[in-house]
Amino acid sequence: MRKDVYYGEYLQLDKILEAQLPESDKEGIDAHDEMLFIIIHQAYELWFKQIIHELKSVHVIFNKNEINDNAPDLYKVVHRLKRIATILDVAVHQLSIMETMTPLDFLDFRNLLRPASGFQSIQFKIVEAMLGLKLENRFGKEYYVSQLNAKDKEIIRVTEEQSSVIEEVNKWLERMPFVDDTSAWDGFKGTDDKSTNFWEDYRSAYKASLTQGEKDNMERFEKVFFEKEFTADRRFSNKANRAALFIMLYRDYPLLQLPYQLLNLLLEIDELMSMWRYRHMNMVHRMIGMRVGTGGSSGKDYLKSALDKHYIFAEIAELNSFLIERRNLPKLPANLEKRLGFVHG
Ligand code: HEM
Repeated sequence: MRKDVYYGEYLQLDKILEAQLPESDKEGIDAHDEMLFIIIHQAYELWFKQIIHELKSVHVIFNKNEINDNAPDLYKVVHRLKRIATILDVAVHQLSIMETMTPLDFLDFRNLLRPASGFQSIQFKIVEAMLGLKLENRFGKEYYVSQLNAKDKEIIRVTEEQSSVIEEVNKWLERMPFVDDTSAWDGFKGTDDKSTNFWEDYRSAYKASLTQGEKDNMERFEKVFFEKEFTADRRFSNKANRAALFIMLYRDYPLLQLPYQLLNLLLEIDELMSMWRYRHMNMVHRMIGMRVGTGGSSGKDYLKSALDKHYIFAEIAELNSFLIERRNLPKLPANLEKRLGFVHG
């Protein structure tokens, strides 16, 4: 017979609650707030673990031979990304608890922590790498490499070798039907009743929407959606960009609602990560002023540069500059409208 589950055993509380060992206790120094400092970092690490658990499942779904947009697959991806965003939102707010510690309270034990630092949080770095941040795109590569031990460096190397969310989303967008499938566009009539090609029509509608100071946007439009050389070293190909823009423009159609939510959640995750970085940076400034970090970085300046450079989904955000007003959108042919609806008659 199955043994009764008991709360404390199930949660392994004996391990978790015995894992707070302040350095100040070992040294016989009175530093009341070190307990808070340890617990808050541990709470973060538990949330990072949950985020990684969600990201792994997203990775499994995206790596199926074919992800079925009509089946639970895409819904699961969206649902789990939403959970990640909710956790990150809590993570941002959780910094308020840390801020109840004053700089003087921190000084009671700060020097005992050297050279450790939150910078060495391997789970945080795994989250960044699983989303798509690559070593070559990190601020202060040398510092980055110098701070991790050999085992952790290897973990990040292996994580980076696997495909990341951004690469998987690129592939998923490239597979999206309709966008380049000419048969789906039978019967398309441009807004001027002349053009028979959606992208030609959209190009003119976009051009007409630009103000005097925005004329240069046309050059960017061509690059992002049509120039292979331009996208060669970017995360999204021209084809994926076209699919993503199409989703954003026609997201009111039932079939495009989940894909739209997915793209939107990636932007939300990027924004929440950057909000966390921003609040953490400000907290650091308030806590240690301009002193260097326990991990040896320049402290606030390092964090500011990481904040500016570590956006992962900026290419999706850029696509919003190519939207036009809903009322001016090219009208989709009846056949395609039907395919994007609930009813497939
Ligand atoms: C008194 C509170 C804190 C201070 C003064 C502080 C300070 C710093 C500093 C100065 C750095 C830059 C690296 C270095 O030189 O050490 C850093 C990085 C970092 N810290 Fe904190 N930190 C605090 C709390 C936290 C908490 C609660 C977390 C939660 C996990 C955290 C996670 C991180 C992470 C992930 C990085 C790397 C950030 C990046 O590369 O963008 N820190 N911290």
